[in-house]
Order: sequence, then structure tokens, then C-alpha cells
Amino acid sequence: MEKYYDVNKRRWNELVDIHAKSDEYDLDGFISGKNSLHSIELEALGDVSGKSLLHLQCHFGLDTLSWGRLGARVTGVDFSDTAIELARSLAARTGVNADFICGNVYDLPKHLDGEFDVVFTSYGALCWLHNMEAWAEIVARYLRPGGTFFIAEFHPFMWVFDDEWPSELRVKYRYWQGEEPDYYEADGSYADPEAKVVNRSSYEWAHPMSEVVNALIGAGLTIRGLGEYPFSVDGTQIAFMEPGEDGYSRLPGYDLPLMYSIKATK
Ligand SMILES: C[S@@+](CC[C@H](N)C(=O)[O-])C[C@H]1O[C@@H](n2cnc3c(N)ncnc32)[C@H](O)[C@@H]1O
Repeated sequence: MEKYYDVNKRRWNELVDIHAKSDEYDLDGFISGKNSLHSIELEALGDVSGKSLLHLQCHFGLDTLSWGRLGARVTGVDFSDTAIELARSLAARTGVNADFICGNVYDLPKHLDGEFDVVFTSYGALCWLHNMEAWAEIVARYLRPGGTFFIAEFHPFMWVFDDEWPSELRVKYRYWQGEEPDYYEADGSYADPEAKVVNRSSYEWAHPMSEVVNALIGAGLTIRGLGEYPFSVDGTQIAFMEPGEDGYSRLPGYDLPLMYSIKATK
């Protein structure tokens, strides 16, 4: 697995600077007080003040620090050194008390002890992980008994379609993952599709809904709610999506699930 994670980490390290300059992440807005979280996770987790919250795959920490601004005691984890470096400097700059840990999600027990009231992860996290059962064990490991896990993610059903086809949905990919991860080469990313990068390669894993839900159940969690949404936080998920005034993008002509969420407790 190391080979895949090394390649992915190089790409993510390079993307941090591009994302930090992008309109999508709106760093200036964030620094001046804007909250980067979406209504889905805000409504699902409710009042987090005074709660300890672990954010898995936190990127450069905007969501982590946003939970911190809402009163949670936050810890963010990501394997990108450049992301964690920026997250730490943003914490210092905004005065939000936060711990940031640099490491692979699967290696977290080497770096972190303790249990949390909330474990959170979101939007574009699971496709970078090879094994849902081992991931769910990590989630369960860091939840205190009675604690809440919440994930909001892109719906795996939508990954089967050609995301570049300009006018209609065409099936291009399989739904279930094979033995090996899928290999991609691309320049920009969802936050800046035009950006040119040196590290064009990445490896990703598809995780069908059943695999994610069963992994969480297998790790001993109780599923409290499953949500599916016909809108997305990512307007580049499919080429012809249209942005809405509510901050979510939609797929004209199709009534399909673009994102899902799971709330579970230990
Ligand atoms: C799409 S971003 C997460 C997006 C996040 N919701 C946001 O908008 O800021 C995916 C993150 O996962 C991190 N990542 C990928 N694979 C990882 C792994 N195995 N362990 C820890 N972090 C990982 C990347 O560095 C990146 O910051």
C-alpha cells in the first residue's frame, strides 16, 4: 500500500498551495470569520460546544477550525505535511485552539491516544483509503462509549458516470472496486480545475455504500441515520452540474443521489 499512499501524498502536498489560493476554499473569507461547514453536518451534529472532536482527513483544517470556532475542542489529522503546516498556521492566525497531527489515518494509534465525543470526516475522504474495515476500526477506536461518528460523502453511485461528458450521464466506471486501486492522471482538482501540477498521478478506491455501512457495523457502531441528497458540495462532480444559491450544486434533468451521510454511535 505504501507505494499508492506515497504517490497520493505527493499530489496532495502539491494541491495544498493551489487550494489555499482558490475561490473554492476562500481563505481570506475564512480568516475574517466565515464558517466553512455545510448545513448537512451542522444540523447533524448540532451544538458541539465543549465537545472533543476528531476530524479525519482534515486537509488544511478549515472545517476543523470551524468546529473549533463553534466551541468544540478539535484535533485534525491528515497525511499531507504541507496541509498540516498550513492548518497549524491558520490556527495561530485565527486564535482557534486546535491540535493537528500529520499521519496516515491507518497509523493514527502511533501518534494519538484518547477518545473523543465526536469523530467527523467529509467530502472526498474515503476514496483515498484502501480498506473500510480497518478505517472503521480507527473510527471506533477514537470514539468514547456513547460518542457520535458523522460522515458526509459523495455518493458512490455517482462515481460510475463519466464526469467530463458535457450533457448527459454515461456509465464509464464500475461500481465495485477490483483488487487494485484505480489509477488516474490529471492536472487540476475540484477546487481549481485549470491548475497545472507536477504530481499528476493518484490512486483511488471505490467504496460502495454497503461496504461503508457494514464496516461501521462490524466495528461495533450503531447506525442512527442514513441520508441521501440530490445535491452536492462539489459542482465539478459531473460536468453539467449547476450551482444553486444555497451553496449546493444540482444535476439538471436527473433526480439521483449525489451525496450521502451516516450518523452512528458507539
Ligand atoms: C478531498 S480532501 C478532504 C476534503 C475536506 N473535506 C476539505 O474540503 O477540506 C482529502 C484529504 O485527505 C487526505 N488524505 C488522503 N489520504 C489520506 C490518508 N491515507 N491518511 C490521511 N489523510 C489522507 C489528503 O491529504 C486531503 O487533505
